[in-house]
Amino acid sequence: MLHPGKWRLEVPHSLDERKGGRKNPQRPIPYMRVPDLGSLSRSITLGALGMPGLTAYYGLLDICQPKKGETVLVNSAGGAVGSLVCQIAKIKGCTVIAFAGSEEKISWLKNELHLDHIDFKSAKSPLVDAFILKKDLKIQGFHAFRWYIRWWNDTSTGGFHQMKQWIQEGKIKCRETKTKGFENMPRALLGIFKGENIGKAIVEV
Ligand SMILES: NC(=O)c1ccc[n+]([C@@H]2O[C@H](COP(=O)([O-])OP(=O)(O)OC[C@H]3O[C@@H](n4cnc5c(N)ncnc54)[C@H](OP(=O)(O)O)[C@@H]3O)[C@@H](O)[C@H]2O)c1
Repeated sequence: MLHPGKWRLEVPHSLDERKGGRKNPQRPIPYMRVPDLGSLSRSITLGALGMPGLTAYYGLLDICQPKKGETVLVNSAGGAVGSLVCQIAKIKGCTVIAFAGSEEKISWLKNELHLDHIDFKSAKSPLVDAFILKKDLKIQGFHAFRWYIRWWNDTSTGGFHQMKQWIQEGKIKCRETKTKGFENMPRALLGIFKGENIGKAIVEV
């Protein structure tokens, strides 16, 4: 069983528990059985087929509702969520302008994800503020788990299934920055706060 929103594997005592047992029957426990992933690595359920994938998929498609031919600007494009947003936007026929904070990230975005335009450095770029001001854009916050049920429960057109299909078709590439060994966990964690990971940061124990 996997809880895709948290960095852990857990096994509830029974399937009934996951359907809402334990203390509060009104509040289902969001454990799901890891579905058949074919040849894909299990770690992908922590990245493109887990919380970051859910965030990228619905955050872009539900909130931004991009239309073919539009331009999508992605900040922190080399990270777990950003790299997926870029690729989903491309699939939807958008022009993607990506910002990333290292030469290695830029090289990956350019040479492997084939984005339209990539620029150095991101989050605090005044360019981003200028875009927001000039284009009269709105800023909206969200919590990705609002789409949790849809992600898992939608039929073949739903987020999880759609993302899985795109990955299997090679339309979405998933990169992981893997740290090996439990003892190296602190280093991996610190790396996240320095933007060191490209794609999803994974610790293999
Ligand atoms: N609202 C939600 O429900 C939701 C869900 C998932 C994620 N998030 C948020 O979305 C963001 C991206 O998540 P992620 O999983 O893609 O994270 P990630 O893989 O760690 O990527 C984060 C990126 O942020 C950039 N960054 C800028 N300043 C940084 C700094 N001081 N320290 C570290 N990184 C810095 C880095 O890109 P550059 O090197 O290119 O600057 C880094 O690659 C995070 O802020 C996360 O909390 C929100």
